[in-house]
Amino acid sequence: MHKTNLALFASGNGSNVQAILQAVQNREISANVACIVCDQPQAYVIERAKQAGVPCFVLSRQGRNRTEWETQVATYLKQAGVDLIILAGFMRILGNTLLTAFPNQIVNIHPSLLPAFGGTPDAIGDAFRARVPETGVTIHWVDNGVDTGPIIAQQALSINPNWTLDELSAEIRKIEHQLYPKTIAQIVQQK
Ligand code: GRF
Repeated sequence: MHKTNLALFASGNGSNVQAILQAVQNREISANVACIVCDQPQAYVIERAKQAGVPCFVLSRQGRNRTEWETQVATYLKQAGVDLIILAGFMRILGNTLLTAFPNQIVNIHPSLLPAFGGTPDAIGDAFRARVPETGVTIHWVDNGVDTGPIIAQQALSINPNWTLDELSAEIRKIEHQLYPKTIAQIVQQK
């Protein structure tokens, strides 16, 4: 039986990538991680890929437009037999090239209860400064909008008014590191 081949996209620290790698390793997710894709040559997620022995395709956007970048990435992913793309702290908007090459096969995580605080690179900070009573985490299919595709899973978090921004961020990360692996496991099971 064909095992789903995942590609994990990240631009930074990669703590969500780490959580997903661990879930694959302990068989919570029944899939292979074919590769990690990163657009930032200095990102710590590259080190995580090395530690995990997972191929990492690092391709800077420098000197490439979005279509050129996405065409090169799509070619690599097709050669690797990737079935499902998982965006985990990937800080770019996807264009038509990847969306067309992988229709309904791209998932994203956003640290708010979408549609609230969508389309912002600092959803946690924005919720904190807005002093809303709750925020949370959303996992959704990626469409051609920004943080707008069909929602797959959400988990709410009541904000303690005494928390600092760092404490709120830490609580969000805890939810992400549980919810993303669990949700990916469910998607893979339904394939
Ligand atoms: C996470 O909060 C994720 O929701 C957002 O970017 C952040 C990435 O963090 N898209 P990390 O690189 O996984 O630690």
